[in-house]
Amino acid sequence: MAETDGACSGTLTEPLTPAANLIVALRGAKSVFVLTGSGISAESGLPTFRGVGGLWRTHRVEELASPEGFASDPVLVWTWYNERKAAHEAAQPNAGHLALAQMEDAFDDFTIATQNVDSLHLRAGSRNVLELHGSLREARCTNCSARRPLDAAGLPCQEIDHSCGGRWRPDIVWFGESLPRDVWQKAQEAAARADVILVVGTSAVVYPAAALATHYNARAFVAEINPQPTPISSRVACTLRGPAAEVLPRIYPSGAVVSE
Ligand code: OAD
Repeated sequence: MAETDGACSGTLTEPLTPAANLIVALRGAKSVFVLTGSGISAESGLPTFRGVGGLWRTHRVEELASPEGFASDPVLVWTWYNERKAAHEAAQPNAGHLALAQMEDAFDDFTIATQNVDSLHLRAGSRNVLELHGSLREARCTNCSARRPLDAAGLPCQEIDHSCGGRWRPDIVWFGESLPRDVWQKAQEAAARADVILVVGTSAVVYPAAALATHYNARAFVAEINPQPTPISSRVACTLRGPAAEVLPRIYPSGAVVSE
């Protein structure tokens, strides 16, 4: 297994590794909740936001991911999201996405809440996916309730204006906006009833999504899967320091670790 920080090491004569602790927790779990972020799609070739090469290192978040930015320059915003949409379409789910889809079959109650808008969990076969920040599968009107599907090229910039007087915008939650109420409610409930919470590939700095990891359930065994430490690392039961596409396939709900 990849490097760990030993947070799970106990005082047993033969201490379980962090991975083994997680396996034991999963063996006894009836309900599993997974919070994912852009890191899980890194091995599909999609950039994260804040790390080296991250999108927010070279782009201004307030221009591209806020209602004000869209109001001021919708063509710039759509040009950027159209590029991202094309990248999502070209990407394939990786072994991490596929492992989570497989894991879902082993539990009656298994929920993924993702901050990602790339649809890769759904394309991997996961069924119970809550898209906290929306998706790039559709555009919606800023003025009325109209929606339209987006194809691989996104939205042609000459079609931004909607006939009702509004504008088509990506179906994404931007900074300063609320998460979809029903999605957020379901995510809170799933986090609260979970026996095991997996926090995968997120810097855990964007709220309210990050709160799902540690704020709604004091009882669950929480494991973080991320090559880097995050603000929640010291508060979780177990940290597995490695890429999600390597770590997740080695965790089997039946309780087997392929190799250490
Ligand atoms: P960040 O870029 O903030 O964090 C990505 C995390 O993934 C970091 O902690 C990395 O260490 C980790 N990571 C990198 N490669 C990894 C790998 N191969 N396997 C596992 N983890 C890996 O991205 P998010 O946490 O997703 O919101 O950001 C949250 C939100 O901020 C996004 O949904 C987006 C952004 O602004 C909006 O645009 C509204």
